[in-house]
Amino acid sequence: MLQLHSADGSGDGAGPAAAIRREDYTAPAYWIDSVELTFDLDPNKTRVLNRMTLRRNPDVAAQPLKLDGDDLNLARVLVNGQGTSFKMEGARLVLENLPEGAEPFALEIFTTCCPAKNTQLMGLYVSQGTFFTQCEAEGFRRITYFLDRPDVMASYTVTLRADKAQYPVLLSNGNLVDSGDLEDGRHFAKWVDPHKKPCYLFALVAGKLVAREQKIKSRSGADHLLQVYVRPGDLGKTEHAMNSLMYSVAWDEARFGLPLDLERFMIVATSDFNMGAMENKGLNIFNTKYVLASESTATDTDFANIESVVGHEYFHNWTGNRVTCRDWFQLSLKEGLTVFRDQEFSMDLAGSPSARAVKRIEDVRVLRTAQFPEDAGPMAHPVRPDSYVEINNFYTVTIYEKGAEVVRMQHNLVGREGFAKGMKLYFERHDGQAVTCDDFVQAIADANPGSPLTQHLAQFKRWYSQAGTPRVRATGRYDAATRCYALTLSQSCAPTPGQSEKQPFVIPVELGLIDATTGAALPLHLAGDGAAEGAAPTTSRVVVLTEASQTLTFTNLDAEPVPSLLRGFSAPVVLDIDYTDAQLLTLLAHDADAFNRWEAGQRLALRTAINAIADSTMGTSASGQFDHQILAAEFVDAMRSVLRNPALDAAFKELVLTLPSETYIAEQLAVVDPQRIHAVREAMREQLALSLQADWEAAWEQNQDTGGYSPDPVSSGRRALSGLALHMLCIAAQKTGDVVWPGKAYQRFKVATNMTDRFNALTALVASGSELATPALARFHTLFKDEPLVIDKWFALQAGAPDRGGNVLPAVRQLMAHPDFSLKNPNRARSVIFSYCSANPGAFHRSDAAGYVFWSDRVIELDAINPQVAARLARALDRWKKLADPWRSAAREAIARVAAKPDLSNDVREVVTRALAE
Ligand code: TRP
Ligand code: ZN
Repeated sequence: MLQLHSADGSGDGAGPAAAIRREDYTAPAYWIDSVELTFDLDPNKTRVLNRMTLRRNPDVAAQPLKLDGDDLNLARVLVNGQGTSFKMEGARLVLENLPEGAEPFALEIFTTCCPAKNTQLMGLYVSQGTFFTQCEAEGFRRITYFLDRPDVMASYTVTLRADKAQYPVLLSNGNLVDSGDLEDGRHFAKWVDPHKKPCYLFALVAGKLVAREQKIKSRSGADHLLQVYVRPGDLGKTEHAMNSLMYSVAWDEARFGLPLDLERFMIVATSDFNMGAMENKGLNIFNTKYVLASESTATDTDFANIESVVGHEYFHNWTGNRVTCRDWFQLSLKEGLTVFRDQEFSMDLAGSPSARAVKRIEDVRVLRTAQFPEDAGPMAHPVRPDSYVEINNFYTVTIYEKGAEVVRMQHNLVGREGFAKGMKLYFERHDGQAVTCDDFVQAIADANPGSPLTQHLAQFKRWYSQAGTPRVRATGRYDAATRCYALTLSQSCAPTPGQSEKQPFVIPVELGLIDATTGAALPLHLAGDGAAEGAAPTTSRVVVLTEASQTLTFTNLDAEPVPSLLRGFSAPVVLDIDYTDAQLLTLLAHDADAFNRWEAGQRLALRTAINAIADSTMGTSASGQFDHQILAAEFVDAMRSVLRNPALDAAFKELVLTLPSETYIAEQLAVVDPQRIHAVREAMREQLALSLQADWEAAWEQNQDTGGYSPDPVSSGRRALSGLALHMLCIAAQKTGDVVWPGKAYQRFKVATNMTDRFNALTALVASGSELATPALARFHTLFKDEPLVIDKWFALQAGAPDRGGNVLPAVRQLMAHPDFSLKNPNRARSVIFSYCSANPGAFHRSDAAGYVFWSDRVIELDAINPQVAARLARALDRWKKLADPWRSAAREAIARVAAKPDLSNDVREVVTRALAE
């Protein structure tokens, strides 16, 4: 048997792989019409018989067939039933003597692979005795030789054979057409997928699983079977996932007219998974984190995440599967669009305008704390990248979250109805095809002639081709004599790697004007706006910025108004505007746009933080404490008013009262001293805790749970606010020496009937540094030792705890030595290592560089196990160039240390190479 092995998954293993470029795309030289796969499943040696029907692509010059492969043992190749000559080109199998002409021919390939040794979790692997596959992006080549590219779409017939006692459930895509027993205690199942698909959507699952089932009827009257498969014992935690799935099916049909196109739709949960979940046709595979929930083990956030991830994967059935990507540069075609769809789904389910705004704020917070830094760092890339070394590195917040914003702008530019029309046209044109981002925008524009999107189409597409976050600078001038307010909006975008010059973007700016004294919304009279003439003036409208600089003149104003710009975060840009504190306080108190109300509070806090960080007269004490009064009385009063305002929802209050994150503060600064940022933010929190003590107590009392648990927006908002209040009260107690509130927190921790309240109480104890944290953590572990997802929280809380004199790193090392720790399980590795390196800046950025040394050791260690996860960790130091010394040079050294390793994966190599590039 021929041994073909490449340890790093890089293909030929001959040095660092070259970049793949979008402009080099060519259509495949062959099409694969059908695939018949037969698996003899065995953890140590699985046999895969692959019988394909291929034909030459008449549009491409005749050339050899080159099939992708990775880590396969090849045993046999037959063409039309006959042995044939072949050669290897790196990891590729090359066939030169194929039948000529346009006739289809049969190709049979027999290989084996070793799922038990597959720690990368790409291709076929074993998790807790059950077989799973993950093929996106390029994992199918680890199962069999194939044209592993999304524009090759085939019909699949799959036969699974395995030991019946060990693997009673055998699943693959589509419909079960046959099953039965075989000799030697084995059995088989045969599945036929009625839809053609690219190989990245192939999946199989085999093991001991049980399913929650639900029969549903679609609008057309068709019957469908929904199933959620989990390990025996977890069935009680599948209700929420199943409900989310039913809502998803109904929502896509109601909002976009997109029905479920399968008789059977399955979700299977695994605890070993690189990402959140995967949209394999009819057989979604999920990280258990996004399936399993009960009120006693999952928080409100977990419930919300399950709803959106279940929705996300289900919505891929149309946006991704029915219409797929031509090549991986078009990844955002499916991901950006599907994130937009899952965001809308969650908003529609949330219902009230306030709950929608809360969801919007949460989504924007992710964009700003994760995507904006990415767009300003060494890994910056356009929503449609031009090149990559390892595609796994491009499943990024830019592709997903910024991509969703780009779709959202289209939605807003053509309106809700117009967007639905555009989607309809997109499917009329492209159902069953592998297409590009251009094809999508074109369909939305063509369905909406005359819309601003259609008018500025070519320019709008720059959102797909230019990386970097645009900045919009706004300046206003009021002229009392003419009663006019001139608002000038200027845009710019900083250079990003490989893109030094940027052209202006199309930037929709939703805006309003507010009376500075009463806070009332003012009618908008825009000079020279023929379209609005005669119509009653509105108080909010969208202005589409297309030039580098534009001035809008608003008339009929008795005094200088307060501009409310970028309402609802109408474009993914940074808005620079010199508000006075008084203006921000007006917006915070009165803006009709909930997003901008929140934003005004964040701007006030951010300004306070930045001033304190820059103020060299304010030092930190020896213990790193920042003992200065920073918060202005007006700010504290404004926060108090929000807290007391009976008209505001608890969820919204919690968002307003939460200070901008350290990462977000760091992004605003040219030079970053992570310790000072941490100290200042902690000091601000302490002051908020102390000066609002009575109001926190009231918030705690007034937002107690009554009745049974439900994860709906209103009750989860109440839990979020009471959780924050308890946290603040424990912080205040730590300062004042009060023992009552830590005692109450401990009591709540013990008696809580849901995980949200319990975990919030535990967090309050741990984060405030209470002595009760230690017994509470011990008790928590004992209670939940058999719940891996809860134990992940236990690890993450400790690795993410505020640093006290450098105590977190030693604690993290101890956690890694805990019997429950495993580097091989991505969730567990993330819960400790990522929580420390990527989510705990105050503890990670140590001046002795020990955090960075720890990081480099873990990147190297993880890379040998799972390059995809290692490469994500490798990005923790992306923004090293912004750091002040000594952090900057220590970080560079740590990255160089990783880069110096000779046998890195392509994944990690690409990340560290880009980080070190000038
Ligand atoms: N398409 C998946 C999603 O968006 C992403 C995904 C799941 C993935 N598993 C993966 C991507 C493994 C790369 C590798 O939901
Ligand atoms: Zn997706």
